[in-house]
Amino acid sequence: MDKVWLGGAPCRRGGPANGYTACDMPSFPASRAILDRNRRHIPGGMFSLNREADPALVFEKGEGAYLWDADGNRFIDYHAAFGPYLLGHNAVEINRAVEQTLHDGASLFGVNTTRQEGRLAELICDSIPFAELVQILNTGSEATYQAIRLARAFTSRDHILVMQGGYNGWHNDVACNVMTPLSEIGPRVSPGEYPVIPLGAGIPEAHRSLIHVVNFNDVESVEYVCRKYPIAAILTEPILQNIGIVKPRPGYLEALRRVADEFGCVLIFDEVKTGFRHAIGGYATIAGVSPDLAVYGKALANGYPIAAVAGRTDLMNLFAHPDPKRRVFLAGTYNGHPVPVAAAIATIECLLDREVNTYAKLEKLGKAFEAGFESIRKEASAPLTLVRQGSAFCIYFMDHAPVDWHDIAKHHDFAADTAMRRAVIERGSFPFPLATKQWSISTAHTEAMIQETVNAVASAILQPAMR
Ligand SMILES: Cc1ncc(COP(=O)(O)O)c(C=O)c1O
Repeated sequence: MDKVWLGGAPCRRGGPANGYTACDMPSFPASRAILDRNRRHIPGGMFSLNREADPALVFEKGEGAYLWDADGNRFIDYHAAFGPYLLGHNAVEINRAVEQTLHDGASLFGVNTTRQEGRLAELICDSIPFAELVQILNTGSEATYQAIRLARAFTSRDHILVMQGGYNGWHNDVACNVMTPLSEIGPRVSPGEYPVIPLGAGIPEAHRSLIHVVNFNDVESVEYVCRKYPIAAILTEPILQNIGIVKPRPGYLEALRRVADEFGCVLIFDEVKTGFRHAIGGYATIAGVSPDLAVYGKALANGYPIAAVAGRTDLMNLFAHPDPKRRVFLAGTYNGHPVPVAAAIATIECLLDREVNTYAKLEKLGKAFEAGFESIRKEASAPLTLVRQGSAFCIYFMDHAPVDWHDIAKHHDFAADTAMRRAVIERGSFPFPLATKQWSISTAHTEAMIQETVNAVASAILQPAMR
């Protein structure tokens, strides 16, 4: 395959006249100084190490679809902080609800419940058909942790099935096998499973022996694993959105539902990225497949830290089972903190508002990007494929929409993707500069901004030096 060459991009804010050679990334000196200083007291220099990016931009302000870095450069944001910002940064109506809550004297009381907890739970259960009951937590990882616990308690089984290329959080049961080199997991097997490759050190062997990894879109392997082990839960993102956008094949989610029922396992949809971004009820409502449990986070409160686990009454009620031996332990000092709860209520109310029509607006913007991209694709010298679901998309440097991680690892041109992202950043739009990471649009984006980014992508990919 002809590789797309991305060198030689002139810099929007500088270019050779400002001292950059044609293909140099600007140096962002203020960002660099902050990171260097923070490294003195913080291992890795930042509070979440998967945020490490090259260029090492440090942002100081976000408003709507724009971000400003420490050097004063402005970017159109497509990273959305890994997904939460569906209504844009510092969305006025959400911040206003938070300010009002604080003004009204809300605090973290830490005793019993609050009216706002009830309001948020009611909104979630009323708007998600299979959410009979809900509990609120702080992060997506906590939510997948508790959903797995519920599944284990319910089934009296310990084994969990997860997807290669899926990300479900940082805890021991799920921190494995996202962008795993094929040299470590080996070639595609079906039916079969892949070795568990932890995302880092410190994950006990005992945990790994309870985890089973199969490829997305491979029902035969799910059945194979369910036949072989006592599986408590099948856990999957309904669209894999941590390796771009890998959609389920028609019938795949339905098949997972059938297999879970046949083998008596709990079907958990991890909607931390898809939930509220594609529809209020997440991708499950678009696909028309009801999981037993679903977890949410990110867009649920437009950037404020909150998460939820929701689902069937008989499962969810294990959190409050009268028999302490059967009760699933759930606690958290900050669960239901009034600030993110107010933000979540305001976000859902906004998403429910027919006049605001959030999802139609996002679809229009997503379509505008897709239309612009189509002419780039036709002109490019190497194959390109855009995969989009509403406001989330990914450009793959390969000739088809991927079906699983093996497909991406084998066919996607990672170097070209990374180079394109860096060239787009030089031109004033900000996708996360790591190959296959999702691009996200918010309602604060405009068609003019989308066009500016299409132009940046076009010049990154099509400039004569690259052909
Ligand atoms: C699908 C999915 N599940 C779970 C998580 C974990 O969420 P958090 O980072 O809030 O713990 C993430 C985070 O990116 C995610 O994308």
